[in-house]
Amino acid sequence: MSDAVQTQSNSKFNKRVFSGIQPSGGLTLGNYLGAVKRFVQMQNEDFETIYCMVDLHAITVWQDPARLKNNTRELAAFYIASGLNPEKSILFNQSAVSEHAELGWMFNCVARMGWMKRMTQFKDKAGKNAENASLGLFGYPALMAADILAYHATHVPVGDDQKQHLELTRDIAAKFNHDFGVDFFPMIDPVIGGPAARVMSLRDGSKKMSKSDPSDQSRINMNDDADTIAQKFRKAKTDQDALPSEESGLENRPEAKNLISIYAALGDQSLEDVLSDVGGKQFSAFKPMLVERAVETLSPISGEMNRLMLDVSEIDRLLKRGADKARAIAAPIVQKTYDIVGLLKP
Ligand code: TYM
Repeated sequence: MSDAVQTQSNSKFNKRVFSGIQPSGGLTLGNYLGAVKRFVQMQNEDFETIYCMVDLHAITVWQDPARLKNNTRELAAFYIASGLNPEKSILFNQSAVSEHAELGWMFNCVARMGWMKRMTQFKDKAGKNAENASLGLFGYPALMAADILAYHATHVPVGDDQKQHLELTRDIAAKFNHDFGVDFFPMIDPVIGGPAARVMSLRDGSKKMSKSDPSDQSRINMNDDADTIAQKFRKAKTDQDALPSEESGLENRPEAKNLISIYAALGDQSLEDVLSDVGGKQFSAFKPMLVERAVETLSPISGEMNRLMLDVSEIDRLLKRGADKARAIAAPIVQKTYDIVGLLKP
């Protein structure tokens, strides 16, 4: 499909944002800078915004049931503490709106085995023991497509690691529309980019910052206190050289590039602007600036998360309200999908 055709067919859809995070515990600076910060920006722009705690995705690998519930509430607290306003954005957990699973099943029947086998995240997560991975983990991207398309969302803000999944969402929408001869699902626009699209490990600039890295020193957790943040950045791997004044000077310096990118993203600056300020400085001078900026941003968020977690019944109430609003949008779209597919649902 050409871009022109896509734009034309998308023009009939409202500008609607959908995104989600797994409540599998261990929120990191990567989740904040790569995803939630942008969720907040888009909430405050000209979009209808829907943000989900994707608990059905979380259970594609084993989750302790009591911890899963707690992590779901904690993720809700993280969203709100970061600036998402439940009056402006729809916030809810995925399993509370059964349309996700229903449309996910229909998309399991549209998506092809070969497409799923090419997903690099499945290969990474399943590792050498793919035969022992759950079927849910294999089919994960079809449920992700259902999350987005159940709302006819048009824009999906994510970090760079989700790019392939969003391409697959477009493939599923296109195949569905083609197979049934309809123009029903939109061709989504991934919203990926800026200095924090891929926040890297503090120990190894070639690896993504991740909650599943065995070394806690490799990441900043959203609940790290100021001393821990300072200590982790102080120990973060760097090279011997002074910082460059231009972006080209960051080539082949992945650790330097990562720290500069984090600093830029925290302050809503471009790399170029940051480098024109800090070019020529040694890391020993730059790291305290980074710590100060990180603590300034993260401490109020973790403080507010702790405060919100003191009243989980209020969080549950907000989530229920969010689920009701989400269902009101998804139900008619999924009902229509039943009809298109030929499933009788009186
Ligand atoms: P998840 O839970 O792994 O991550 C949530 C979001 O955080 C981003 N992210 C990062 N961004 C930059 N640098 C990093 N180091 C980093 N680590 C994580 C991820 O890119 C993501 O945007 N499959 C999704 C969840 C999902 C979803 C959806 C997303 C389910 N359904 C529908 C969008 C739309 C995931 O596992 O994200």
